[in-house]
Amino acid sequence: MSGLATKGPVVRVRGVTKSFGGAAALRDVDLDLHPGEIHALMGMNGAGKSTLVQVLSGVHQADRGTVEVDGHAEHGLTVRRARRLGISFVPQRRELAAGLTVAENIMLGDLPGRRGIVRWSAIDAQARQALSDLGIDIDVRRPAGELTVAEQTMVEVAREVRRGGRVLILDEPTACLSTEAAEQIRTLVRTLRDEGVAVVYISHYIGEVMGIADRVTVLRDGGVVRSAPANEFDAASLVRAMVGRDVVSTRRERPAPQDELGLSVRGLSRGRAIRDFSVHVRKGEVVAVLGPAGDAQAGLFDLLSGRVRPDAGELRVDGAAVPFGKVPASLASGLRCVTGDRRTLGLVPELSVDENLMLAGDRFARRRWHRGGDLARRAAPLRTSYGVVALAGNPPVAALSGGNQQKVLLAKWLQTEPAVCFLEDPTNGVDIAAMADIHALVDDLAGRGVAVLLASSSAEEVMRLADRVVVVSAGRAVAEHDIAAISHDELVATALKGQSQ
Ligand SMILES: Nc1ncnc2c1ncn2[C@@H]1O[C@H](COP(=O)(O)OP(=O)(O)OP(=O)(O)O)[C@@H](O)[C@H]1O
Ligand SMILES: [Mg+2]
Repeated sequence: MSGLATKGPVVRVRGVTKSFGGAAALRDVDLDLHPGEIHALMGMNGAGKSTLVQVLSGVHQADRGTVEVDGHAEHGLTVRRARRLGISFVPQRRELAAGLTVAENIMLGDLPGRRGIVRWSAIDAQARQALSDLGIDIDVRRPAGELTVAEQTMVEVAREVRRGGRVLILDEPTACLSTEAAEQIRTLVRTLRDEGVAVVYISHYIGEVMGIADRVTVLRDGGVVRSAPANEFDAASLVRAMVGRDVVSTRRERPAPQDELGLSVRGLSRGRAIRDFSVHVRKGEVVAVLGPAGDAQAGLFDLLSGRVRPDAGELRVDGAAVPFGKVPASLASGLRCVTGDRRTLGLVPELSVDENLMLAGDRFARRRWHRGGDLARRAAPLRTSYGVVALAGNPPVAALSGGNQQKVLLAKWLQTEPAVCFLEDPTNGVDIAAMADIHALVDDLAGRGVAVLLASSSAEEVMRLADRVVVVSAGRAVAEHDIAAISHDELVATALKGQSQ
């Protein structure tokens, strides 16, 4: 058998079943990972993709079934054991230590030195080398907490690549990255594939998967519905396998925006994040701010939500000036800001789904809904209308799949009938069906006369939703267009040009 093992799969999964609290997240899953192959895992939110790769990387143990590595059954695989076997895992949530530098994060667990004495000088040099090997330009002395999402992803990938390994698992590595950063990640993944690494690639982007995968396995409700070479799928059949029906999210006619301004931002500046930024959004209008994730968008969230004060600038909602640096004042003005950082800013992970749903809407009556079944009764319609799905009952929000967490976040804020809303990457990590639902939701908001400012890293999304687009780069607006006057490709070109300036 050993002679054949090099030609066979490096990892072979058979009949893996995994339940949480009695409900099955994985049912009888088979999967083969071959060296030199990019194997995409696709499926809707909650289909079991992350759970499956967590079983492969030793984070979770399967209830039933086997994981074989090189033909040897691994019972009770742990993270440590998986790593020793050469299985590297970049999880869906970035997990760098915020207080450590980039270099320390990359070298963690493998500090250079002899007889217990760490050679600190070597850390930076080796980390710098690991990044430059991959063509990544990030200062290794920076604290990881300061990095953008894209930079965090690159650092995590670099760390795993440096550790070596024959299997590299990437759980949504390009979610919310700019076109350019995502392409950089994909180039890297292709290089590793060509060097013989078996890659598992999870993504919600159909086009991306069609472009990169050698093989695709589709999960639905925890089971494999189809596994085949990528060229046996096309976009439509892939969507049908995932969702069980066709899904289209095409641009919809909306009532023309009103003349009145809903939101007016003038001369906003804060450090290097936002520089002299102005934007005006009429009632019923959707204006997009397109740029790499973590560029101006996150800064805008902090400023508009009242979390921080700018160095300069003016904010008006419905014509009235809103003071900066005061969250209650921002809320009282009718402005609702939905963060793109649902994990640290948007949701309270240890509170239940229903409690999170009611946190914004019922913030003045928090005590009442804790009694009896009132909470569940009031949250139920929100769960239904926003399509929030939990495996069972009302778990802590942290136990929801990524896309379902995103839906809770939107429901939490948008139930409050905003006058103006700022949405930061609202479809980050959601599946194609949920994405269509969220797009329809934004159409409805605008249709009801809400002024919507949409920060996005996706040109597709901007073309689908916006009336106008402001392209940002390094905190500055570099171009502005009516959507009707620009094509998708022109928009991508403008955004790329902005970044290279
Ligand atoms: N620790 C946990 N406790 C309870 N339920 C869990 C836990 N982890 C996952 N689940 C549930 O298992 C199911 C599968 O989740 P998983 O995260 O694998 O989905 P996914 O395919 O990665 O979805 P997404 O695209 O949203 O990331 C979901 O219903 C999720 O709520
Ligand atoms: Mg997931």
